Amino acid sequence: MRKRYLAPLVLSALFFAACGGESKQEEKKADNSAQEAPADNSMVSPNAGKPESKGEKLMAASDCGTCHKEGVKVVGPALKDIAAKYPNTPENVDKLAEKVIKGGSGNWGEVAMLPHPNVSKDDAKEMVSYILSLK
Ligand code: HEC
Repeated sequence: MRKRYLAPLVLSALFFAACGGESKQEEKKADNSAQEAPADNSMVSPNAGKPESKGEKLMAASDCGTCHKEGVKVVGPALKDIAAKYPNTPENVDKLAEKVIKGGSGNWGEVAMLPHPNVSKDDAKEMVSYILSLK
């Protein structure tokens, strides 16, 4: 008879133990992410110290960096590769600004760029001008 009462007690003890363990792990995780703070690239970035252009700031404030890095292909082409492919002309800036807003694929492969309907045409042009200046 006594055993029956014990079982839930044991179970709830286990439950609490499990919870305690979990929260400790979470603390550990938080510690780790604090250590993985963004690396200071000022020594390697060729643009370090130069004032950021408007287009660069706009790109930093948008999601572009998720798929584009300056010198390496990530999901999208490296910004320097885009700059190498298109001469910095008003027509190209206009065409590529449209592409940033509408998204799409085909010029670099099958992977599509997400559309950016919230980016204004002027802002998209600033961003593309900045990209095409990276030569
Ligand atoms: C989801 C990933 C992703 C995001 C976010 C993204 N891009 Fe792209 N981008 C791509 C891919 C993939 C391509 C290649 C498309 C193709 O093959 O035509 C591309 C291509 C481009 C091109 C060249 C287009 C062409 O036709 O050659 C420009 C310019 C560009 N992106 C700018 C931007 C800017 C500016 C932003 C931020 C507003 C941005 N991208 C955000 C994935 C992304």
